Amino acid sequence: DTARVLSGMVDMAMLRVYKQSDLNEFAKFATIPVINGLSDEFHPVQLMADFLTMKERASGETIAYIGDGNNMAHSWLMLASKMGFEIRVATPKGYEPDRRIIEIALQNAKISGAKISILNDPKEAISGADVVASDTWISMGQEDEKERKVKNFAGFCIDKKMMELAHKKAIVLHCLPAYRGYEISDEVFEAHADEIFLEAQNRLHTQKGVMVWLDSKRND
Ligand code: NVA
Repeated sequence: DTARVLSGMVDMAMLRVYKQSDLNEFAKFATIPVINGLSDEFHPVQLMADFLTMKERASGETIAYIGDGNNMAHSWLMLASKMGFEIRVATPKGYEPDRRIIEIALQNAKISGAKISILNDPKEAISGADVVASDTWISMGQEDEKERKVKNFAGFCIDKKMMELAHKKAIVLHCLPAYRGYEISDEVFEAHADEIFLEAQNRLHTQKGVMVWLDSKRND
């Protein structure tokens, strides 16, 4: 009902939800464009900002995503596999991205030429990488898993030692909020704060772009 009522009140809607299925349900009944503003499966608008930041700051297109195989990992896989980048996702055992999403990325890669590796060794993933990306280990709604996850993610903090393995001009991206001392060290965050805050600002520009594009499609 909400989808039908809102469709008569606004031109488009962005939903930030826990479950992708809630978003799909809303989109099924809405007659306006629906944008995924974050779900448990994907974070596409964030990746548009990350892509723009890569274009502005990165010196190459080899990406290391180190951390949880979550919504951000899934969207990184979508971006890299569509654009033909090399992406190495490193997670602890048992926290790999969803098999279904990996399959989609591998299918995309057949067309784009992307190179996709799903690993459990962060050092292997980061070696020579031009873009080093991470995200919180504890996503929205997983607060009660914190203790267990912090233990299982030992060795996955992007710190100075880890960064020494990346390309010397590597940029660091993080969708924020960052938990310093967990997925990223304070030192690495501060050394790359310029890129990370540019990435956050780029959300504004890329999301405006999405809205303009959707608006232009209204009369097609
Ligand atoms: N993985 C995080 C992303 C936050 C922008 C979460 O779902 O909470």
